[in-house]
Amino acid sequence: MTDVRFLKIVVFVNALVPLVLLFSDLYTRRAGPNPLQFATTTTGMLTLIFLSLTVAITPLRKIFGVNSLVKLRRMLGLFAFFYGSLHLLTYIWFDRGFNFISVGPDVVRRPFILAGMIAFLLMTPLAITSTNKMVKRLGGKRWAQLHRQVYLSVIAAVVHFWMLVKSDTSLPLTFAFIILFLLGYRLLTRYMPVHTDTTLFPRE
Ligand code: HEM
Repeated sequence: MTDVRFLKIVVFVNALVPLVLLFSDLYTRRAGPNPLQFATTTTGMLTLIFLSLTVAITPLRKIFGVNSLVKLRRMLGLFAFFYGSLHLLTYIWFDRGFNFISVGPDVVRRPFILAGMIAFLLMTPLAITSTNKMVKRLGGKRWAQLHRQVYLSVIAAVVHFWMLVKSDTSLPLTFAFIILFLLGYRLLTRYMPVHTDTTLFPRE
């Protein structure tokens, strides 16, 4: 088995661990006084973590010179979408009581819901076009252009998180700094390739 395949299995199994823990906490009634809120916040946090990891792959690959990291990007992105879908489902279920008609007015009424919805809608075409077949169909250049949308999605996600916290903004602020760094690095490598194409930590 190649190293990359092994790494993919390790990441896949680990990415499912929080889901198992969430179900276990819900089942054993260890999810606090409001389990519904617990499920929404947990899946929201997982979505943001996986989205941030997806965006971090290219800078990490360039900084550490580990090209094989790119092979994990699709899986991490799909996990972000998976947890995002669960997060949306918990909202529609627990917050809206499956009253789909009330989602539209809620999006208009609560700006943080609008930001979350934008983040999720921006992720959706990326998940749909993540297959090799879709890369071929769209052509590499168009596919890459479309997938730059992930940056807009993660920005909207951080805004969503920022807007919904009431007092302690340290966590959304931390995510904002991480995303700012990753975005800044991407822009730098795009417009100043001479300085940043060199790996900081070459493997040899
Ligand atoms: C990429 C998409 C999204 C990401 C990354 C995301 C992320 C998050 C995060 C990090 C939290 C807070 C967790 C905490 O308090 O520890 C959260 C809470 C929440 N999100 Fe999202 N979210 C996304 C999309 C959405 C969407 C589409 C909706 C609904 C339409 C939504 C509704 C909510 C609600 C209702 C809460 C709980 C608010 C509260 O604590 O009262 N999110 N989300």
